Amino acid sequence: MPNKVRKAVFPVGGLGTRFLPATKAMPKEMLPVVDKPLIQYAVEEARAAGIEEFIFVTGRGKTTIEDHFDHSYELESVLNERNKQSLLKELQASVPKPGSIAYIRQQEPLGLGHAVWCAKRLVGDEPFAVILADDLILADTPCLAQMAAAREQAGGGNMLAVMEVPKAHTSRYGILSPGKETDNLIEITGLVEKPAPEKAPSNMAVIGRYILEPTIFSLLEKQQRGAGNEIQLTDALSEMLGDVPFYGMKFDGTRYDCGDKIGFLEANIAFALHRTDMQDDMRDIVKKIANNL
Ligand code: UTP
Repeated sequence: MPNKVRKAVFPVGGLGTRFLPATKAMPKEMLPVVDKPLIQYAVEEARAAGIEEFIFVTGRGKTTIEDHFDHSYELESVLNERNKQSLLKELQASVPKPGSIAYIRQQEPLGLGHAVWCAKRLVGDEPFAVILADDLILADTPCLAQMAAAREQAGGGNMLAVMEVPKAHTSRYGILSPGKETDNLIEITGLVEKPAPEKAPSNMAVIGRYILEPTIFSLLEKQQRGAGNEIQLTDALSEMLGDVPFYGMKFDGTRYDCGDKIGFLEANIAFALHRTDMQDDMRDIVKKIANNL
């Protein structure tokens, strides 16, 4: 039986330049989809997969994330006075248990690989998940829970969430070389970060959900800068190929790139259409706008 995955790392140290000016003074992970910040969806997804410890790799200007996952006594007492009990309960339930949440600062945004490496001591010697909050996934079974179940069946190792992308977009993602494919699992035989379409080994892209063996840390430690002059997680991962079971999982669900303005707008519409309390109104609005185009 592979070790259970108990810890998740949330790298939130990026600058979010694709979403300026919104992200000038506000972390992109705090952008709300409908009424909830992206980072809260990510934490809820982790909880649903059985994660018990939440490790945030933060950077400058990210303190609102810490405040979001803490009690706000003033607000809670006002909600109590105004008898808004269900809202109060909802807010209190979103605060992780004392001692289960930790923050470590990535002093320079040197890339995703470097951000994950910063969590080394907090993760220790056990498998862990990585969730990129700006990749938001709408799914019946949360994506990380799908991956944890698939990883148990595969006997442990690395499990990455993957999806098909248009060939013209391969230079935006880590792209895999596919080996044997069974049901929704693809054995990964190669990985390359942001290849040009003519050099891409496939159009299967890695998106922001990973379950990783802790041996990644020693590889990240000596990782040189790669694509975009950043320390890339993909480069360290490709050095683990052949050493551990290594799979990509074609998850059930739809992924929205909320680090990108169009992806973020699409996510808001899709999530609102999915919510029973607003889908009727939202459908009317979308129809009205479409009819006026
Ligand atoms: P992105 O590639 O989206 O980079 O990072 P970014 O800086 O956040 O945004 P853009 O491209 O400038 O608009 C993917 C994930 O890795 C984290 C980001 O916070 C995001 O969740 N990241 C990236 C870090 O934590 N540290 C880094 O140095 C880079």
